[in-house]
Amino acid sequence: MAGRVVYFNGRFVPEAEARVSIFDSALMYGDMAFEMTRTYGHRPFRLREHLDRLYGSLRLLEIDCGLSIEAMERVTLETLERNLATEPADMDWQIMHDVSRGPLELYRTAFPGGIGPTVSINCWPLVTHMGRFAPNYRSGVHLMIPAQQAVPAHLVDPKAKTRSRLHYQLANLQAGRAGAGRWPVLLDPDGFLAEGPGWNIFLVRDGVLVTPEPRNILLGVSRNATMEYARGLGIPVREANATRRCGPTRSSARPRPTRSCMPRRSRGNASATADRDRCFAACSRRGRPPPASTSSPRPRATPRAWMNGSAGRRPRPRAREPGATSVPPSGRIGSDGAS
Ligand SMILES: Cc1ncc(COP(=O)(O)O)c(C=O)c1O
Repeated sequence: MAGRVVYFNGRFVPEAEARVSIFDSALMYGDMAFEMTRTYGHRPFRLREHLDRLYGSLRLLEIDCGLSIEAMERVTLETLERNLATEPADMDWQIMHDVSRGPLELYRTAFPGGIGPTVSINCWPLVTHMGRFAPNYRSGVHLMIPAQQAVPAHLVDPKAKTRSRLHYQLANLQAGRAGAGRWPVLLDPDGFLAEGPGWNIFLVRDGVLVTPEPRNILLGVSRNATMEYARGLGIPVREANATRRCGPTRSSARPRPTRSCMPRRSRGNASATADRDRCFAACSRRGRPPPASTSSPRPRATPRAWMNGSAGRRPRPRAREPGATSVPPSGRIGSDGAS
């Protein structure tokens, strides 16, 4: 069976031949945009939304990748198609777009054929990321708040998905030092919950699904989908500033029976609030999309004053719900935001 191929600057080449120059601006500055789209049953999940975000990132970076978004979509589907036969039919895929400015002008003489943007699309079997992650759906994940902060929008626009990710990597390292299997949730410089290194975060509080307001975070495709699905189910959704007091709590909660792409938290080291709180990480590479559910809507509830950091009285902690577990996951597979 032939091996996987990569779309690389207009050609399909074997994976091993898809190489980026040491003079590429991506290597010099982290100056590139990327996207990761997963498939469900070989169908890319919200590919067009991912590509819209990719082209938004490219606009910010002032990179012209030389392909229209329609052409990028076509060539993405072709790349997937060309790789499907390399794995069993039930394999799902991670589709990665990487676009950089290309080699720096300074090194032009090393490229007699000329320089231009480096555009690649690769497909990788998703089981590599998802396989060991699966137990987290039951056990939850152990969240922690690292010293490393999110980069605020007034410094670098976080809505662009770029490889300039050192702050995420430092957060991962700090989480790793705090204990095996910890997932870091970064605060923004104002002390509000922002996001993880590769995922957005949701809290459930009194029947309201709350997620950090979009200022200092990447607008995840799964975040959009999650809010859409929730609204479709009649669950109130609120984008708000949430402080660490509202975030990951010490105690655990039994997960809602959901088949969405969100592992729940099992533990966290932020100051405790109410153990009714539930906290989810949303990332499109994980889990299954929610079913087109007909289940009855959850009852509406009034959001409490804890939003916008103005929480006054803290709700009294309740005993842990039966069946709740606090077993941390064995690893942070696929949580690092780089893959
Ligand atoms: C920093 C960050 N936030 C959030 C996300 C989630 O985005 P999406 O749902 O589009 O995968 C990612 C994905 O890589 C990310 O890197």
